[in-house]
Amino acid sequence: MAAPREIAVKTCLLLCLALLAIGAKSTPLNGVRRGLVGETIFDVMKYGAKADGRFDNAQAFIHAWNAACKSTGPAKVVIPKGDFVAGNVIFQGPCSATKPITIEILGNVLASTDLSAYPSGSWIKLDEIDGLVITGGGTINGRGKSLWQFAGSHNEGTLLPVSLVFEKIKNSEMHDVNFVDSMGFHSKVTDSENIKISKLNISAPDDSPNTDGMHISNSINVNVTDSIIGTGDDCVSIGHGTTNILVSGITCGPGHGISIGSLGKRPAETDVKGISVINCTLKGTTNGVRIKTYHASPSIQASDILYKDIIMADVKNPIIIDQHYDSKNKPEQSKVKISDVHFVNIKGTTISKIPVSLYCSEAVPCEGVELADIDLAPSGAVGSLTSVCDNAKFVLKGKPIPPGCA
Ligand SMILES: *[C@@H]1O[C@H](CO)[C@@H](O)[C@H](O)[C@H]1NC(C)=O
Ligand SMILES: *[C@@H]1O[C@H](CO)[C@@H](O)[C@H](O)[C@H]1NC(C)=O
Ligand SMILES: *[C@@H]1O[C@H](CO)[C@@H](O)[C@H](O)[C@H]1NC(C)=O
Repeated sequence: MAAPREIAVKTCLLLCLALLAIGAKSTPLNGVRRGLVGETIFDVMKYGAKADGRFDNAQAFIHAWNAACKSTGPAKVVIPKGDFVAGNVIFQGPCSATKPITIEILGNVLASTDLSAYPSGSWIKLDEIDGLVITGGGTINGRGKSLWQFAGSHNEGTLLPVSLVFEKIKNSEMHDVNFVDSMGFHSKVTDSENIKISKLNISAPDDSPNTDGMHISNSINVNVTDSIIGTGDDCVSIGHGTTNILVSGITCGPGHGISIGSLGKRPAETDVKGISVINCTLKGTTNGVRIKTYHASPSIQASDILYKDIIMADVKNPIIIDQHYDSKNKPEQSKVKISDVHFVNIKGTTISKIPVSLYCSEAVPCEGVELADIDLAPSGAVGSLTSVCDNAKFVLKGKPIPPGCA
């Protein structure tokens, strides 16, 4: 048995250590403090930010980020509660801090409504970072309403700034973030790998132009799950050069559906492979699950695609492959080869007469299209349904689809 004196010394040692640890955590150190799990906190307020809904906080955000990025050990940038206006922001890597760096957005981040503030097509860009977590439950508000009148058409390519761009990002995640009223797309992942995105709430009016919820291009291993997306364009769009993408648990609407494409617009585009869209609900969207390609395209492939366990509610074109996208009257055929595509267990209602339309290319017909357990009924007084299968080699399983493709 230990002597009382020995116990007293031990107790004091433990207490003193605990007090020291608490002291270290709460002591300010060059304008930074320690978080509960030991990371250094870089609060934007310490870098000159003002939550007055007017001051441009872009430089304050960038300075807080740069300090966090260049630090050693675990680091967290915090944007506290309040209304923070900001123009163009770039969070540049690579970083020396311990991976991952966290950006915690608790407040509202509001875009500057001066379009000249965005020379590079993005509002907030994350560039060349390995190991990043964005979270916090706050809102990224693009305040696009006054700018949508300046949006170009799909063909002109004059797109308004994207709210949040992941470029050359690796091994990172974003969850519990809200997006509203982006100027252009709400978010974009490009040239990136191993990205996990979940629990987003993305919202813009159904007539807002090109306000895609999430666009993914040139990336590998990206998961977008468990989110609510309603915008004026695609809820999720999966562009060229993408491999191994999972989209699941998305509630989409209003919007243009969950799309692969548009593909083939630019000569340097590369293949799309291994795309799964599973367990999603589409409500009142113009398209449900879609693959869209341009007519004058490079010879690329889109293959190994699965759309499974999807519920449609009052969707206009629930299942659609459109290889004449934006080019209905142009004779040239798309050279994007679509193959090994599975539409499985897709149920619900449609507001148009054609729930299944496969408008494939005459130059490179679709191959290996499976339509299994498709059960789509008219919503209200649509009349009898038909299907279209142009230039498509397909197999039907389960309940027959509406006539037209037999
Ligand atoms: C995406 O989800 C799949 C299936 O759950 C999983 O195997 C994969 O590791 C996930 N990828 C990322 C980047 O989280
Ligand atoms: C998603 O965001 C919209 C717009 O901010 C809001 O109206 C809606 O309540 C949010 N939904 C959820 C589930 O948080
Ligand atoms: C399907 O997605 C919903 C969210 O939309 C989620 O709650 C549910 O757990 C998912 N189910 C499966 C089997 O993944």
